[in-house]
Amino acid sequence: MDNLLSMQQLSTDDMLRIVKRAVAIKNGEYEPFSEQLFVANLFFENSTRTKLSFEVAEARLGMERIPFEVSTSSVQKGESLYDTCKTLEAIGCDALVIRHPQEAYYEELEGLNIPIINGGDGSGSHPTQSLLDIMTIYEKFGTFEGLNIVICGDIKHSRVAKSNCDALTRLGANVFFSAPKTFQDGALDIEYVDLDEVIDQVDVVMLLRVQHERHDVATKITQVTYNSEYGMNQARYDRLKPDAIVMHPAPVNRGVEILGELIEAPKSVIFEQMTNGVYTRMSILEDVLADRLA
Ligand code: CP
Repeated sequence: MDNLLSMQQLSTDDMLRIVKRAVAIKNGEYEPFSEQLFVANLFFENSTRTKLSFEVAEARLGMERIPFEVSTSSVQKGESLYDTCKTLEAIGCDALVIRHPQEAYYEELEGLNIPIINGGDGSGSHPTQSLLDIMTIYEKFGTFEGLNIVICGDIKHSRVAKSNCDALTRLGANVFFSAPKTFQDGALDIEYVDLDEVIDQVDVVMLLRVQHERHDVATKITQVTYNSEYGMNQARYDRLKPDAIVMHPAPVNRGVEILGELIEAPKSVIFEQMTNGVYTRMSILEDVLADRLA
C-alpha cells in the first residue's frame, strides 16, 4: 500500500491484512524500524485521538516526529497544502499524516513521492478510524459475515459513517442506518431503520457524534430529545443481545449520543477502540513504509 487515502482504495484482503497485523502488534509482535525514518503530522482540524495515537504509534516504531503546527507554520503566510507537503518531503520526511477540512484534499498531492495517510478529510472519509473500528469488531466476533450493524446519528456529516458502511458491507456485514431526517444522507445506499425496532437484534451499535461544527444552521434537536429518540440509554442498553457491543469514534457528547454512565458500561468498547487505534496506526505505518524499509 503506497498511501492510505480512503477505504474505497482497499480490498477486503487489504483491510484484513492491516487488521490482523494490528492484532499481532497488540500481542507484542513488532520491532522498531531498523533505520531512521521521519514523519510529520499535519492537523488542520482539531484532534485528540487520531493525532496523539499516531504520535504514540510513531514513537513505538522508533520514528522521528517532525513537529508541525498549522498556527506557527507558513500556512499562515498563504502557503498551499501542496507546497507545505512538498517542503516536508524535500527536507526529508518519509511519510505524512494529514487531517484537513477539505474533502479529498489528497487529490492535490499527487505530485508527492512519500506516503500520505489520511487522518480525516472534512465530511469525506476517515480510513484509520474505520480500520480501528474493524479491528475492534474483529477482536470481538472473529468475523464480519452476517453481523448486524446499526450506525446511528449524524450520518450526513460523518466521515466515519461513510468509511464504515462501505467497508463493513464489503466484509459481509449487514449495515443499517438510524438517524433523524435532518442527519440522513440520501447519497448512501443503506436502509434506514427505527433503532427501537432493531436494538435487540443487532451485534454492533455504532453511535456517531453530533457534529455541531459542521452544521450550517443550529440543529433544533435538543439533548434530551436526541438521546430519547436516537441515542443509547438504559432502556435500549438493557435490550441489547448478551454479546452485542456499543461503539463510538469519540469525542462523545455525553448525554446526547450516549448517557454518561453507559460510556464505560460492560458492552461499551469505546475506550478499547482508542487503544486499538494505536496498534492499527502502527500497522498502517508499517504497511505504507514497507517499500522504504525493503
Ligand atoms: N475519533 C477521532 O477521530 O477523534 P479525534 O477527532 O479526537 O481525532
